Amino acid sequence: MSDRLTRDFERFGRALPREAAAHIREAYGIDLTARYLGLPIPHPIGKGSGQLSLNADQLEVDRAAGLAFVVLKTVIAEDAAGERSMGAWAVHETRMRVERRRAADGREGWTVTWKGRGWDRPFEDYLALVRLAGDLTRSGAMLTVPSVKYHLPRLDEPFRDQEYRHTTGRLAEAWGRGPLPIEKDFSPTLAGDALADEQGRILRWLREVPGRIRSAAGPAPLRLALKLMNARFDDGFQLEMMAAAAEADALVCFNRLWDEAARVAYGGWDLSERNLRVLRSARAAGRRGGPALVGTGNVRSGRLVLDYARAGCESVALHTFFQLPLGEYPATAGSRTERALHALLFHPVDGLVSGMLELERAGVLHRKGGELRFLDLCAEEA
Ligand SMILES: Cc1cc2nc3c(=O)[nH]c(=O)nc-3n(C[C@H](O)[C@H](O)[C@H](O)COP(=O)(O)O)c2cc1C
Repeated sequence: MSDRLTRDFERFGRALPREAAAHIREAYGIDLTARYLGLPIPHPIGKGSGQLSLNADQLEVDRAAGLAFVVLKTVIAEDAAGERSMGAWAVHETRMRVERRRAADGREGWTVTWKGRGWDRPFEDYLALVRLAGDLTRSGAMLTVPSVKYHLPRLDEPFRDQEYRHTTGRLAEAWGRGPLPIEKDFSPTLAGDALADEQGRILRWLREVPGRIRSAAGPAPLRLALKLMNARFDDGFQLEMMAAAAEADALVCFNRLWDEAARVAYGGWDLSERNLRVLRSARAAGRRGGPALVGTGNVRSGRLVLDYARAGCESVALHTFFQLPLGEYPATAGSRTERALHALLFHPVDGLVSGMLELERAGVLHRKGGELRFLDLCAEEA
């Protein structure tokens, strides 16, 4: 199998098959089936919300590459009159810098430095993208999910339900038939904002926001993921946040860290270190049931996908790894999405296939019906 993997790595570096997961199943007896928001996807690798899911062209490149899912850029909720309480998040900024960042433990990683925030174009344009997302999802081409930032009050204030109702209603209408998936973003810029200074306020949001969004959707079926932030408190508070968000269907753990001095969000090894540490302690503390988990942060190899899986995550959402300079990918042709998938799946040392075969040799993962299953790694007993 190791020879076969080396050969696949070489030839797929020139052209990645769109049905890579089917090939992996056939060639290696590895079933990469994963889940996002409880929905089955062919493998665990998807794209997190951000600047790489702003338009139809980007979605087409990802579909053609065979990405498992894409979360659209976060739109800022508005009411029927177009008022947005979180309007400060609709910042226009095009310049992104892909930079190296050294982590506290000395490891060199990558981060994207960017001063922008949420969707900065008219809501109508976002709804056009959601129509496409509904079509792509229903046709089985690629699960594509809208992301929203809704009003978040101070403790003595009520939620602005008009924003919740209007935005959710328009999204559901644009989405069309079938359950509407939504990711609700609690962003790093929010973590860095005075609004998020108080723990009690954040915990109230996490307890109450799922119910607000569900009642805003009315009878329309809804699947809700909360993308939790890395708050400016300790690991214990991250665990409290996870527990408070029990009414969501899934939790995306956790958005980027906040650099107080530079006033920017960042990633790299510090981010995966913290996220994995917290997820592992949730598991060690006996977290049972509750919302499904999705990992995000510094996923740059199949090994990191496996680290998140073994910490309980049924899929992973990447951003930075789709933005590296072309010379950083071992593939010599294809879109960045294809080159990233090629490295994550097929790298003979650090790839997902190689990592799962290694876990089998180590006696951690066992074949069932002749197959190694990715989702077995996320299961409780793993
Ligand atoms: C430039 C940039 C913009 C982003 N914008 C959003 C956003 O609008 N909403 C959101 O939920 N996450 C956003 N993210 C977070 C990513 O989706 C992802 O969760 C995070 O960057 C960690 O993954 P990574 O280390 O692979 O980049 C953004 C990230 C970057 C780098």
